Order: sequence, then structure tokens, then C-alpha cells
Amino acid sequence: MHLGVNIDHVATLRQARYATMLDSHNTEPSVLEAAKAAMEGGADSITLHVREDRRHMQDADAQAVRREIPLPLNLEMGATPAMLEFALSLKPDYVCLVPERREEITTEGGLDVAGKADELRAIVSALQANGSKVSMFIDPDSVQVEASADIGALMVELHTGKFANSLGAERAEETARLAAAAELAHSLGLEVHAGHGIQISNLPELNAVPHLTELNIGHTLIARAIFTGLTPAVREMKEAIASYKW
Ligand code: PXP
Repeated sequence: MHLGVNIDHVATLRQARYATMLDSHNTEPSVLEAAKAAMEGGADSITLHVREDRRHMQDADAQAVRREIPLPLNLEMGATPAMLEFALSLKPDYVCLVPERREEITTEGGLDVAGKADELRAIVSALQANGSKVSMFIDPDSVQVEASADIGALMVELHTGKFANSLGAERAEETARLAAAAELAHSLGLEVHAGHGIQISNLPELNAVPHLTELNIGHTLIARAIFTGLTPAVREMKEAIASYKW
């Protein structure tokens, strides 16, 4: 099981103070140092989301991580012409297409691949021809899984937000939906990842979902890092993940 560490919140904290003075000599915390610390803790890849509005990660952050960090880079981005142009020049190992605007979001929060198939097919094709493997961040919904395979994506990242935010019977129902979506994705030849709201405390239930090969985790690691530092936080998560058979 691979752990992709999402370091967006490091940039969120920097922007909270320095958004209007990014060239200043004293900006902190450093995104690049965070990527290095995550790597030391055992991260298998670094994930960052360059948003259209650049509210946290900046182009220069992604370029610095690409240049300096010898781990696979997973760029999360909206499916827009401007972001496509950026990704084609950055050449990340992976691109995860995510919704950013209301009209791209399904009722649960994943990307509406089925509703935007033609537009997405062209973007996926351009990225994969340029050497970036593409995943679609989708709800655990058979229509979206099938659409992702149909447009030529190689991977899906199942949105675990609803799973993470529920308990009891609802949690069990969400786990079953994730498992069914993972089975379908795997049967269609897609690599299956999961992300959003994953914490050490919900790994036991997530473990019931078959075929997962990568977890993308951000918030809980940065939250924990406030108290332990990022390297131990990532190491703890790696150990927790490794204590299950996936
Ligand atoms: N995967 C994707 C596609 C995301 O956009 C995010 C950030 O919301 C994550 C994974 C990580 O989620 P979290 O920060 O809740 O761990």
C-alpha cells in the first residue's frame, strides 16, 4: 500500500500570512522542507493541489517539489485548459483530476466524469501522452467508475469523505459502497486509490475495501505534525497502514 502525502495545508498556513508578499525573504513554513520531511517519514509520493485560484499551492511550489524531491509527484488539479497547460509543462508522474467548481461536483463531492466525459477524455489523453498517469477523484458510484474507465483514465481515487464523516450503520453502508466501487474499478482494469478524511482511526474499516493500492492523506498528518513534527507523523501513519494486510 502506497502512502501519498498531501502537503497543501503547509501552503495554506504560509498563505495565511504571506499571500501578498510571497517574494519576501521570511516566508514560512516551507513547502519544500515539508516534502523533504514527508519523504524522511516514508512517504511514497507527494501530492499537491494547485488550485485555479492559487489559494494555497503556487506554481513555484509545484516546480520546486518537482525539481528537488526524488519521489513521484501527484498533481491534483481542476480539468481546465489553463491547468492542463501547467501540467503539461510540469510533467508530474501522476495527475488526479478533481472538481473545483460547483457545476463539476456530484451530489457527494467527487468529479462528475459521466457528465463531462468528452471534455475529460481530451484532457486525460493529452496528459497521458505527455507521460502523466491520470486518476479521477470520484464518488464510489458505478456510473462514475464506468465513465472513468470509458474516457481512458488509468486510475480512480475513491472519495472517502462520506465514509470518514459517518458512523454506525451509515459508515457500514459507505464502506460497502466503496468496496463495490473498488471491485468494479478493478474489474475494468483501473488502479484503485482512496482519499479524503482518512485517519489512523478509520483504517480498520477502510481495510475492508479491496484492491486499494494507494491512500492519499493530508489533513490528519499536518494536524498531527503540529505536535510531533511531520516526519514522525508520516512514519506513524506508514506504520499504522503497514499493520493491516491490504
Ligand atoms: N485526495 C484528494 C483528491 C484531495 O483533494 C484531498 C484533499 O482534500 C485528499 C486526498 C486528502 O484529504 P485529507 O486532507 O482529508 O486527508
